[in-house]
Amino acid sequence: MAETGPLGGLTLDAPVRFGDFTLLKRIATGGTAEIYLARRHGLEGFVRHLAIKRVLPHLADNPDFVQLILDEARLAAHLHHGHIIEIHQVGVSDNQAFIAMEYLPGMDLGRLVRAARRRRRRVVVAHGDPGLARALAHAIDALDLADVVVAPGPEALREVTDSGPVDLLVLDTAGLAATRDPVLAAVQAAHPELLRTILVGPTGGRGFGTYSVVEPTSNPDEVARLAAQVLAMALPPELTVQVMRAVFDALDYAHTASDFAGRPLEVVHRDINPSNVLVSINGSVKLVDFGIARATTTLRREVRGNFVGTYAYMSPEQASGRAADGRSDLFSVGTLLYELLAGVNPFAGDNEFATMRAIRECTPEPLDTLQPGLPPVLGELTARALAKVPDARHLTARDMLRDLEGVIRRDGVDLNPKRLAGFLAVVHGQAGVAAFGVSDTGYAPQPPHANGEPSTDGSPRDAVRGQLAHDVAAAGRAKPTASREESTQEREEPTYDRSLDREPTTLNPRPLPPAAVDGAAVGPAGVGQPGAEQAPATRGTPPWVWGIMAALAAAAAAGWWLFLQGRGGA
Ligand SMILES: Nc1ncnc2c1ncn2[C@@H]1O[C@H](COP(=O)(O)OP(=O)(O)OP(=O)(O)O)[C@@H](O)[C@H]1O
Ligand SMILES: [Mg+2]
Repeated sequence: MAETGPLGGLTLDAPVRFGDFTLLKRIATGGTAEIYLARRHGLEGFVRHLAIKRVLPHLADNPDFVQLILDEARLAAHLHHGHIIEIHQVGVSDNQAFIAMEYLPGMDLGRLVRAARRRRRRVVVAHGDPGLARALAHAIDALDLADVVVAPGPEALREVTDSGPVDLLVLDTAGLAATRDPVLAAVQAAHPELLRTILVGPTGGRGFGTYSVVEPTSNPDEVARLAAQVLAMALPPELTVQVMRAVFDALDYAHTASDFAGRPLEVVHRDINPSNVLVSINGSVKLVDFGIARATTTLRREVRGNFVGTYAYMSPEQASGRAADGRSDLFSVGTLLYELLAGVNPFAGDNEFATMRAIRECTPEPLDTLQPGLPPVLGELTARALAKVPDARHLTARDMLRDLEGVIRRDGVDLNPKRLAGFLAVVHGQAGVAAFGVSDTGYAPQPPHANGEPSTDGSPRDAVRGQLAHDVAAAGRAKPTASREESTQEREEPTYDRSLDREPTTLNPRPLPPAAVDGAAVGPAGVGQPGAEQAPATRGTPPWVWGIMAALAAAAAAGWWLFLQGRGGA
């Protein structure tokens, strides 16, 4: 399991050079590798942020493992899909095997779920009968799972829901019937964290789209029991459906993907678990680490203990050491879907052996008994995915996707990524998410402008300008700006000598001493030639060079004219 800092980032003392990259900070340490946020420099000040997965030093001595991990990553580099992290480069640098991939600012699903669970949640009880409202609130409060607030009428309800998060709403179907629908709509629009609504009373509708579940009773103990079940969920079911739709879609693509020659890649993920599902601060969802588990499962047998977290998502065939095909991934996504909806992993035991045994032998409790009122299709979907025999599961990820899309259509599930982004912001705190998105990418507040001033407002645009200035200055290429006033007034891009762009074309050129660069560009004596006198560093092109160039151009024009004359005559 990965070990991460509060924002998923442990700061390095200083950026570290690694091959073509600059490592900015360590994001996490997993069982087999460390993940770094890195920067790669292109020409003209172009900068790209990437995530670098670098095999842990003690495993780098295992050539079979390194070979396997690199081979799988090379295969996965053929995958290009909106819900899959793109692999940019695979290789070995400074004796360390690495994978350079798209960096997604945000957090993995495992961290999101843990952060959501750690949050103190808030239940709002609104009932037309004040006595019953208090009794309901009292029973839920006794669970000690959340703070409970009572809203005696529609006005109070509006105030309460405006003043803080609403993770669970307990609403009276009779007393507040007149205002129920608009109230629900308003709460849902403003609260992406709303898990479900419990509609208390004998009447009322049931709908997944409204997150609601009817408890045909006003018995406080019964309602509290239901509230405990709802509060076991980390994510609202609509967001679970949104995340899982992306995962199913990614799998459907990967399982059937081919290379440019049309040969099937036969990619199997083999390690679908919450840490490999990344959720960005913008609400996009991407699967990472395709195929890497082929290498790590070999190691699992050798290095026990490091991988406990992922045992709970294995398929029965993996838990029995048998070969796994795409249907193994279907079992793993079934486990993940079940866990997110039910609020509990169906197989996790006290240790890896108990877990693997449960995977092989135990049938999970039906989803419906743990979360009543969810669309029955979701229960059927998970039950089928969790069949012990691969033949009894869905045939393909596409089949699962089709079922899930049926739910989405029928219940009008909102797939707008902003909702997921909003949830991330609530769980992580608005400020935390903003920091994650900006400073974690190495933008604000550093680096300083070329004149030594820090970036002014920390906006990405401003920071990119600052970054450019910083990078150019670091490479010893910046021309000093005339005055401080001039640069702060316009916040212009720093000027630099464009002739230097002709120099080394590697993506991340190492800085060269200006004298050597200039000499190489213009010096007829040839810098570094034995006995050649070093030309002084000059920035202008000497007049004799222009003369030679003009003569060459005239000769070329004359040759071209003669050639055309010849063709015309023929
Ligand atoms: N491309 C990426 N962009 C942003 N964060 C990433 C990226 N890849 C991985 N991470 C983060 O780094 C963490 C660690 O990843 P890593 O794959 O090393 O470990 P793991 O998934 O926890 O376990 P395992 O070693 O079994 O894969 C992830 O959980 C995620 O939070
Ligand atoms: Mg991983």
